[in-house]
Amino acid sequence: MALKRKDLLGIRGLSRDEIDEILNTAELMKYILIQDHKRTPHLQGRSIVTLFYENSTRTRLSFELASKYMSASMANVTAGSSSVAKGECLIDTGKTIESMGVDVVVIRHPVSGAPHILAKHVTASVINAGDGINEHPTQALLDMFTIRQKKGTINNLVVAIIGDILHSRVARSNIWGLTTMGAEVRVAGPATLMPPDIEDMGVKVFYNVDEALKGADVVMGLRLQKERQMKGLLPSIREYTRLYCINKERMLLARKDALIMHPGPINRGVEISSDIAEGEQSTINEQVTNGVAVRMALLYLLTRRNKDAVY
Ligand code: CP
Repeated sequence: MALKRKDLLGIRGLSRDEIDEILNTAELMKYILIQDHKRTPHLQGRSIVTLFYENSTRTRLSFELASKYMSASMANVTAGSSSVAKGECLIDTGKTIESMGVDVVVIRHPVSGAPHILAKHVTASVINAGDGINEHPTQALLDMFTIRQKKGTINNLVVAIIGDILHSRVARSNIWGLTTMGAEVRVAGPATLMPPDIEDMGVKVFYNVDEALKGADVVMGLRLQKERQMKGLLPSIREYTRLYCINKERMLLARKDALIMHPGPINRGVEISSDIAEGEQSTINEQVTNGVAVRMALLYLLTRRNKDAVY
């Protein structure tokens, strides 16, 4: 048993053994998802709260379903409909939630590092469901789980991550995770959407997407984050699409059996063409299914009373 943490705040710093344990547990959890009766007692008596300061469909709903499939009590708090809108600060909100007997708080926040602050002030486990442009660890875990299920391994695969790397917490978490698991990670996008320290993260950097796609085993598109774009970073969406959209012609450069991934939501025809998003190589819907299994695994692993217990 490797995972003995109170919180899951990022992929950075997780060991290969810890990632393997989460993915192995998710495999068992995925088996539950294909049953007619999706109910296990793993989280009986536990309480889970999602605390979201940003919008979400996949992450929030999958945590909710994961909790319910494992018999936990669960509730959702959103910034706009809670006392956050009256000015309550993050720590007070966290302590209020914890005072109601909550075991796990799943937080999404626009500020990088907000989950880390919360984790220091509550005894409940904290799971980062996306913080600013920093990390989205559960997305990377479900992406790695999908790759491992489809390809049998992550080690030695070539993974090309294409698009707005600068604003992407998904890219950062995937880079930390995939390199830890032995993949060659390439990133490609406009120079204005590339973090200045990107090469320190152990990736190969490309500004020509076609070069990055050559021989790739996995092609991962990223959403162009219009809500986080600062003026002047892109000449126009049309120009971006011409140079960086993952389409049929470009996919001919990758391996024939390459996976096409995207965390969603997608901007159809901007970062990925519709035919490619819906084509045979696409894993987009399976990533969503795997998101539930991975989140079930994490909730289970973080709430084990005796973390040395054998599963
Ligand atoms: N991939 C992802 O985080 O999607 P949501 O914003 O819908 O949760």
